[in-house]
Amino acid sequence: MSRVEAMLLTARLSKALQLTLAVIKPDAVAHPVMLEALHQRILDDNFAIVRCKELVWKRHDSERFYAEHAGRFFYQRLVEFMSSGPMRAYILAREDAVSHWREVMGPTKVFRARYSSPATIRAQFGLTDTRNTTHGSDSMESAHREIRFFFPEFCPEEWMEKEEPLFRFGEMKYDQQRQIHMLPTQC
Ligand code: RTP
Ligand code: MG
Repeated sequence: MSRVEAMLLTARLSKALQLTLAVIKPDAVAHPVMLEALHQRILDDNFAIVRCKELVWKRHDSERFYAEHAGRFFYQRLVEFMSSGPMRAYILAREDAVSHWREVMGPTKVFRARYSSPATIRAQFGLTDTRNTTHGSDSMESAHREIRFFFPEFCPEEWMEKEEPLFRFGEMKYDQQRQIHMLPTQC
């Protein structure tokens, strides 16, 4: 069996990777050491970094993204916080990426996280229930919607068709300079 055939067979027999959207919120981006630790945590938890960018939201972006929470007591606080400074957004790939990233983040409420899941990101780095360090999509549907919101030029369907099998087979390499994973043909 050739290498390419072996690769295609492995890709067919294993579970497809999932994409999720992860965001490092302004409270953590403001601290370079925390930001670096979170980036390393993503790598240590075996996520592939498909895309990564820093951006600042206008209040209007924040209101659109969190429209589902409009009217809740924390909404104004949340909208203001998320447009208060730079954020870093990631498209991550992994088996069960959506649920795994949410496990790594831990519970939304920082005090609950510290009590019940002390090894999680929110337990270790979170400041308050609003300034809770990271965001993660809560379903595959949300992931695709949120990826479009942050990375309108990225097509999840095309990535799943063309690049997912190669990532699953481990063909990608981490590019230290760009700080994302890339396929050999893209380097
Ligand atoms: P996220 O959307 O940010 O990943 O967080 P999540 O699913 O765990 O929590 P969600 O219920 O969607 O809430 C969105 C964000 O709103 C802020 N929040 N503050 N009690 C509060 O003050 C409160 N509750 C929620 C947090 O920043 C939360 O991540
Ligand atoms: Mg949420």
